[in-house]
Amino acid sequence: MNTDKSKITIAIDGYSSSGKSTMAKHLASEIGYRYIDSGAMYRAVTLFAMRHNMIDSNGAIDTEALIKALPAIRIDFRPTDGGQITLLNDEDVEKEIRSLAVSSHVSEIAAIPSVRHALVAMQQAFGREGGIVMDGRDIGTTVFPNAELKIFVNASAETRAQRRLAEMLEKGANVSFEEVLANVVHRDHIDETREESPLRKADDALLLDNSTMSPEEQNSLLMEMFRNALNRQA
Ligand code: CDP
Repeated sequence: MNTDKSKITIAIDGYSSSGKSTMAKHLASEIGYRYIDSGAMYRAVTLFAMRHNMIDSNGAIDTEALIKALPAIRIDFRPTDGGQITLLNDEDVEKEIRSLAVSSHVSEIAAIPSVRHALVAMQQAFGREGGIVMDGRDIGTTVFPNAELKIFVNASAETRAQRRLAEMLEKGANVSFEEVLANVVHRDHIDETREESPLRKADDALLLDNSTMSPEEQNSLLMEMFRNALNRQA
């Protein structure tokens, strides 16, 4: 239980590639909080399933085998200068989990209730002390329903695909705008329609549409939201 009122919990949810990770990382470093990327955790489980041949060439998942293996999956984060590195059973998988191959299976993996239960428990353990910024799809609704500050981020699918494409090309990936857009739209659909914790804005979340916002405008708006949330605690 968080008893230090100066260390609140911040939940940032939103659509794929809405810029929520960049925003969450930046805010956490400005205010000296820990940042946790919950999407990286679903990606790490997906990579684990791919490596253990639990996903066949048609994309069908051996759910039973994956559920059995869940206790053997340990996910952690190592802080670096500008962010953090995702560790899967102590191995640095940061680069591999961002590939289009992982992206194309992650939403199906994230729709499996047992996978969600296991990861939500890990996420709640990370946030036990407060002083955390976590981003994802269900952080304000399921993981931290009592978070003192909840933000829901959105931007148009085309804007989001454009951003994701630029990020992937910079990392040397060989992908087209159409492929990336198709992946964004596909994941939106699965995230919104799954039965377990579908993506939706929590009633008490503040909406932030950053389609036409500069990073500076976005950062100052976030700081204002943070200060207001702190004032409400005082
Ligand atoms: O970076 P991007 O926003 O595209 O995705 P991500 O945050 O890395 O998350 C990858 C996928 O994991 C999403 O498309 C969701 O299907 C799933 N996810 C989820 O279901 N719940 C979360 N809290 C975080 C991610």
